[in-house]
Amino acid sequence: KNRPVIARAHTNIALVKYWGKQNENLIIPQNDSLSLTLDQFYTDTTVTFDPTLTADAVLIDNEVAQGSDYQRVVDFLDIVRQKAQTPDRFFNVNSVNHVPTAAGFASSASAFAALAAAASRAADLKLDLTELSRLARRGSGSASRSIFAGFVQWHTGNDDETSYAEQYASAADWDIGVIALTLQKSRKKVSSRQGMQLSVTTSPFYSEWIKLANSDIEQIKQAIDQHDFTTVGHISETNALRMHALTLSADPGFIYFTGQTIEMINEIRQLRKMGIECYATIDAGPNVKVLCQKENASKIMTHFNQLLGSENVIYTTPGSGIEYLEK
Ligand code: DP6
Repeated sequence: KNRPVIARAHTNIALVKYWGKQNENLIIPQNDSLSLTLDQFYTDTTVTFDPTLTADAVLIDNEVAQGSDYQRVVDFLDIVRQKAQTPDRFFNVNSVNHVPTAAGFASSASAFAALAAAASRAADLKLDLTELSRLARRGSGSASRSIFAGFVQWHTGNDDETSYAEQYASAADWDIGVIALTLQKSRKKVSSRQGMQLSVTTSPFYSEWIKLANSDIEQIKQAIDQHDFTTVGHISETNALRMHALTLSADPGFIYFTGQTIEMINEIRQLRKMGIECYATIDAGPNVKVLCQKENASKIMTHFNQLLGSENVIYTTPGSGIEYLEK
């Protein structure tokens, strides 16, 4: 019963973004989001529900977690303890990220998805995938989507029960890849948590964002059904730029882009003009992800390798949902 449980979760890139909460504590979003789970970036988390511990012990990438990083994990484990009705038992957590935090992927997505899966199983909670997605959501909103493979929709819902993700469509029969461009390796100054809160409360465009995000969701789902890469790419790029318009229009305004981010967006548009189809998406940081198809991938890679160096250009493909690993 106290055997270690190991779970692997992959990260995901949102094509229609989550950017704002209606409930901060339960992490209920303002709008549905839709993502693609990625194969190459993942977190492996080992959890033991250890009767000899007097507090949670947390290792992240082989270092003892401290301060707010530790507290965020403990707050999450409190939810698991409450569900398992074991208030006095603690967890031993060892989380290893195979996500270049550098590449600007929310490692919190794969981290909390893996932690939710491993901790709930270690505590003997028998959760189905919907319940697991709801639990992962409590750690980080985007983690709710990393439970599933392929194209994943997080339903806004209106309470803990109704806000969860599910697979919209498999990506197995899709020709789509994501090239991650690393422009800056340091941690972002404004966390997505703070950034989205400031956007909701102060951007005069926020209500318009909600309307557009809702229609983006409907349109991207149709495009996914039709295997229409052009429309999926176009919606992803416009949706990402609208999200960043919320940061620019907040008060005080803030900007995740660097000059190089804008240069890369222009490169992508230039490639498109030359008939090499690709689209940009950008999360809460300066780094750019390029959506493309197989026929163009190597040309695009060569182009960005020359600009950024090949160590800063990583090709990724659609990935699987939550997995349990055996020791
Ligand atoms: C820009 O899931 O990291 O990547 O719920 O506060 O933990 P919290 O935020 P988080 O936000 C992700 C924001 C985003 C867009 C997205 O992944 O949908």
